[in-house]
Amino acid sequence: LHEGKEKIKRAPVVSVMGHVDHGKTSLLDYIRRTKVAAGESGGITQHIGAYHVETDHGMVSFLDTPGHAAFTAMRARGAQCTDIVILVVAADDGVMPQTKEAVQHARSAGVPLVVAINKMDKEEADPDRIKNELSALDVIPEDWGGDVQFVPVSAHTGLGIDDLLEAVLLQAEILELEASPDASARGVVVESSLERGRGSVATVLVQNGTLRQGDMVVAGSFYGKVRAMTDEAGKQVKEAGPSIPVEILGLNGTPDAGDEFFAVADEKKAKELAEFRQTR
Ligand code: GTP
Ligand code: NA
Ligand code: MG
Repeated sequence: LHEGKEKIKRAPVVSVMGHVDHGKTSLLDYIRRTKVAAGESGGITQHIGAYHVETDHGMVSFLDTPGHAAFTAMRARGAQCTDIVILVVAADDGVMPQTKEAVQHARSAGVPLVVAINKMDKEEADPDRIKNELSALDVIPEDWGGDVQFVPVSAHTGLGIDDLLEAVLLQAEILELEASPDASARGVVVESSLERGRGSVATVLVQNGTLRQGDMVVAGSFYGKVRAMTDEAGKQVKEAGPSIPVEILGLNGTPDAGDEFFAVADEKKAKELAEFRQTR
């Protein structure tokens, strides 16, 4: 529809990766629990595939997808939706096969890393070992002359979590992330499902423009008018700008993770485009 004139700074979109049991889910849960304000729908945050948090230094959006598989699937569909990867490495375990895999994924996607040295509350924690082992993979800490921020954290006690968010925002500054809020909305589907009484529920991440309740959208090979939108706190919202994830109701099916979505002028156009995509 329209490109938008004004460019503004947008929040970084972050994925969390790392070896099995190094604490990816715990870290995301801690951040969601402590930083997402409870909404109007009963006071607890929903578990949706993405959420955003406000910090003193700016906003950060998290893709709460189950790790490498989702990242790879989304990339395979051409969706480049992660700006920064938080690489979680357990301080009591060190660099493992999936740590290396994550480094490779981030590298081949051209996405910078911030390293979270997790489980610092454990007695066996050895952050220098992590620095050594990652340096061997050419992921070199700033304090060793490299350009990667390493932040000691604990997903159990909350130690270092604010520093981690700050490190992410510092990295985001370097990337100079921009978007046009006045453009037509487009972005990527994070997940979707059919829910009883609600129909198709899709979590989408707006990458550019502003998505509004009432917009006609195409998502993958489906379409529909956005009937309602809610944020991760279950709060009804009327619009969502760049880097904001929202749940939308109103699609006539369940698009796949990594499918692109965009607003269109009217239902006729939407139907046409969705049908065209079905035939591909
Ligand atoms: P997968 O999704 O299975 O790959 O694991 P994950 O990386 O999401 O790890 P998860 O958050 O499930 O944590 C694995 C185990 O480590 C759980 O028993 C957590 O309670 C524990 N754990 C996670 N973070 C910390 C931490 O900071 N300190 C301690 N002591 N334990 C932690
Ligand atoms: Na686990
Ligand atoms: Mg997990």
